[in-house]
Amino acid sequence: MELFDAIDSRSSAARLTAPGPTGEHLERLIRAAGHAPDHGRLKPWRFIIVNGGAREPFARAAANAKRLRVPTLTDEQVQLERRKIMQSPCIVVIGCVAKKDDAKVPEIEQVVATGAAAQNLFLAAHALGYGVMWKTGAAAYDDQVKAALGLAADDHIVAILHLGTRVI
Ligand SMILES: Cc1cc2nc3c(=O)[nH]c(=O)nc-3n(C[C@H](O)[C@H](O)[C@H](O)COP(=O)(O)O)c2cc1C
Repeated sequence: MELFDAIDSRSSAARLTAPGPTGEHLERLIRAAGHAPDHGRLKPWRFIIVNGGAREPFARAAANAKRLRVPTLTDEQVQLERRKIMQSPCIVVIGCVAKKDDAKVPEIEQVVATGAAAQNLFLAAHALGYGVMWKTGAAAYDDQVKAALGLAADDHIVAILHLGTRVI
């Protein structure tokens, strides 16, 4: 897909089904993400593919985060959050591990660079024909979720990208 066509036709895919990206496509997407502009070449981004055994602790932590954020939710609503993650064809969490004391590149610029990486990945996946949904929500700001992903409490989760085949 031509670049302007990809930009002009990009939209969120609220409903996704299998298949998710192939292994080869996933590698291409992460390479594309890593070409984002990056002041100081600090590479603050982390691409965490949540599949296999990593899915369950992430889903559980995300559901708990939602319960903490909205205590009035029913158990069924909390379980729905867990199921959405367990049933997503593919999840790539994009974290930012910022250098806090860099003299030249403030933390905000490192977070912005990570956002640019997320958008590169989004557009590249769209250009390959995949549906994408960029989420954050309670999970992105929860220390237990970060820990389940191998991130520290003062790292940032910039995007929780769900990828798959768009359900029209
Ligand atoms: C930083 C960021 C966080 C987002 N978090 C959520 C989210 O938690 N839930 C959600 O439904 N959409 C989320 N979105 C997606 C936007 O809501 C979506 O892009 C917007 O609804 C516009 O739709 P479009 O992408 O089809 O243009 C997020 C987007 C960004 C950039």
